[in-house]
Order: sequence, then C-alpha cells, then structure tokens
Amino acid sequence: MNKFAVKKKYIAKTILMSLAFIFAFILVGCGLALDNKTVRIGVAMPTQTRQRWNQDGAYLEKGLSEHGYDVFLEFGNNEISLQNTQIRTMIKNGCKVIIIGAVDGNALSQVLDEAKEAGVTIIAYDRLIMNTDAVDYYATFDNLSVGMIQGEYIEEKLGLKYGAGPFNLEITAGSLDDNNTIFYFEGAMEVLRPYIRNGQLSVKSGQTGIKDCAISHWKEKIAEERMANILATYYADDKIDVILCPNDSTAIGAQGALLAAGYNKDGKKMPIITGQDADRKSVRAILRDEQTMSIFKDTRNLAAQVVKMVDAIVAGKEPETNDIGNYDNGVKVVPTFMMRPVFVDKTNYKEILIDSGYYKESEFLFDEANK
Ligand code: BGC
Repeated sequence: MNKFAVKKKYIAKTILMSLAFIFAFILVGCGLALDNKTVRIGVAMPTQTRQRWNQDGAYLEKGLSEHGYDVFLEFGNNEISLQNTQIRTMIKNGCKVIIIGAVDGNALSQVLDEAKEAGVTIIAYDRLIMNTDAVDYYATFDNLSVGMIQGEYIEEKLGLKYGAGPFNLEITAGSLDDNNTIFYFEGAMEVLRPYIRNGQLSVKSGQTGIKDCAISHWKEKIAEERMANILATYYADDKIDVILCPNDSTAIGAQGALLAAGYNKDGKKMPIITGQDADRKSVRAILRDEQTMSIFKDTRNLAAQVVKMVDAIVAGKEPETNDIGNYDNGVKVVPTFMMRPVFVDKTNYKEILIDSGYYKESEFLFDEANK
C-alpha cells in the first residue's frame, strides 16, 4: 500500500470512529432523557395566593422538566382536604418522589402512610411535615436565622445594644399550623425578649405570646384587622415605633392598618417593620418607606437543590443534606438541606435583588400599575 492509500484508510477510520462515538453519545443522551421521562415527580405547593409559592412551583417544574422528569404540579388553595386529594392522585399516578410545601404540616400523616406503602420518597419543601415517619428529607432555609436576622435588624436600627429606648413594639407571628412559625418567632424573640424584660421595648397590647400574635394562614387581611384593633385600643394617643412581622403578607397587613390610622402623613413616621420573602409588593413598600426590610430567601437556589435531591433519589443514591439535628418532626429527626437567608432593605436591594437577576429594575418604577 502506498503512503497515500494508508492516509486515506486512516482518515476513513477516524471518521467512522467519530461517527460511532457521536451516535453512542446521542443514544446515551436519549436513553437518559427517556429514562427520566418515565419517572414521575409530584410537586404539591400550598397555595397560589402568595407570590413565593407560584415561583417555587414554577422553578421546581422547570428544573425537573429540564432534567427530563414528568412533572405533576398542583397548588392546594390553602385547603387541607384538597392537598390530601392531590397527593393521593400523585401516588396513584406512580410518582416516585413527591415534593410537598404543606398547607398544614400536621394534616398529612395518613396520606403519607399511603405514600410510604407505595414506596414513594417524600421531600418536605420549606415547611416541615410533622408527626410522621414517612417524610424522608427536608429542604429549607434556616428558619431560626430568619427570625434572628429580623430581631437583630431591629436591635441595630434602634440602638438597643447601647441602651436606647423605651420604644413601643408590637409583635405579629405566622400561622400556627406552620412549623416555621415557631422558628421565626423564637429566633426573633431570642434577640428581643431581653429588651422587653428590661423595659427598652414596651409592648402596650401585652400580646407577647405566640398564640396572641399568630395570624391564621398568614392572611394579610387578618394581620390588618388585628393591627387596626391594637392601634385603636392602645395607641390612640401614642405611636408605635416598631412592628415585628414574620413575613411580607403580615407586614403588608400591618401597613394597611397604620396608613389608615394616619401614619406616613403629617410627620407621623411609619414604624420599623420587618418582613420575609422580598415579595414585589413589599420591595415597593420598602422603596416608599412603608416597610423597612424583608428577608430574602433565594428560592431559585432552594428549587435547584431539591432537583439535585431528586436526581440522587432516582439514581438510588443518598441525597446531600447538611443538617441532621435541627428538624425533629415529633417522630423522627428529618435529614435536611438548609440554606442561609439574608436581609434586604433600601441600602442593598439593588445588589441582592436586581444584580442577581431575581427582579428587573423596571419592576420597581413608581407608576400607578406598580402600586
Ligand atoms: C414560609 C414563608 C411564607 C409563609 C406564608 C412560610 O412557611 O416559610 O416564606 O411567607 O409561609 O406563605
């Protein structure tokens, strides 16, 4: 064979091998996608009435679909029986993993027994599911830190560490059927309680227990009515300096009552108001000086972490967790992946919310539509 023929043979062989390699690669790729396509994953979110759960549902659906899974996404309309039915249907439809943001963390024991029986893996999402051994993993933000950051923000803004005061504080808590409520409340109160005890903070309503301060289903309207009552009864001739609110819906409710009572007018400054979720509505309120801060939990990251957990479970591996002691659901300590929250206020919202691509700056232009 002459030199030219050898070279031709070599080129043909190389082309053939490359084609075979590409073909094999495509096959493996399709195979993987097809494999995942046959894997059904359920996503049961609690409600669509709040911005965050819509986003969580959408991020999870997108992330899981991109990994080739067949996704069943449902929202429970804040109704226990509806969420139970939705989860039951997911089990019947052969979902291998179900990700649940519970409407009521105490109301899922029976349906989760059925899931366990059917071999379904359960990931509690953001809210821990209580009193069942059928919950396998939990993915959340550090809930105690959420409250502590709110408490420390108040401590810092008022100069409590340096003895400032007395200031009038009122307290709002979350929904008692949500396990997070205790963590948020305790985290914040751990910081604030000493100042209530030594008189730097005075709670004129006397409502300092979690049950007195709780807002059923985190409803804006209920938070507004409660605050309107407190204002009328205890602050007719005085002003509130600070309101601890665990999240943005309760914060917006409190603002409604304050604005109706003449705050933010005629030199009557709004109190310091905390929140959580960095909802658009609250970010706008922060920019208008009606709310002071919010806690930002980047749920894009939480959803991405949960998709990784699902990948591991489907591959028969143990998903990554980083906390194995904090979350006891009454029956077991649930292995948890926990993320760190941060605060946002007027000083850092651009860096945290806009530069990170979470929101577009144009969403916060002050026009009628944005109110
Ligand atoms: C979540 C908060 C949310 C609240 C009301 C809690 O379980 O952790 O982010 O604001 O529910 O939806």
